[in-house]
Amino acid sequence: MNTYIRPIAMASAFLLGGMAAQAQGLLMPDFDAELGRELYASKGCVVCHSVNGIGGIDAPALDYDPAQGPMDPFDFAAKMWRGAEVMIYMQQDELGGQIEITGPELAAIIAFAHDPAEQAKFSMDDVPEEIADMLHEADDEHQDEEADADHDDTPDADEGHD
Ligand code: HEC
Repeated sequence: MNTYIRPIAMASAFLLGGMAAQAQGLLMPDFDAELGRELYASKGCVVCHSVNGIGGIDAPALDYDPAQGPMDPFDFAAKMWRGAEVMIYMQQDELGGQIEITGPELAAIIAFAHDPAEQAKFSMDDVPEEIADMLHEADDEHQDEEADADHDDTPDADEGHD
């Protein structure tokens, strides 16, 4: 093969490969981290997941660690899918139902989960009152659980010691 043609052939194969991944029927959403900060709180993710030290402790914190490198947003969605059974069960218990979410909303939340500047801005001021109430209820339940180390739903202090 001619030495000039080979790199060109390789480059075009690479480009075609890249293009094949963008199927004609796909549309990439906006990854709006500022909107994500709002939705992360208003949709109730914050009831269980913390960011910047604010939020529930029932689930892994969603602070972005730059050391982990950039993330494929679909890997984030796949992690949610993997945790879905537990998450939905707990949402029914703590929020009264499954969180409704659209694709663009999820894209915004994923952007927030990977944007250290937006995460640093996150405070209780972002959390609507009704969500803040649920957050406090979840915290209270936790304190009750901690006072009931043997998990029999009776606070240990109330149990007879004979
Ligand atoms: C009622 C509690 C609750 C709510 C609300 C909730 N989650 Fe979760 N989430 C969990 C729990 C518990 C897990 C861990 C599940 C497991 O380990 O199987 C989890 C797991 C995850 C994971 C995977 C984390 C990992 O490191 O593997 C992601 C990502 C996630 N949730 C995102 C969200 C987003 C985004 C929202 C809001 C739209 C949300 N969650 C709302 C409880 C919740």
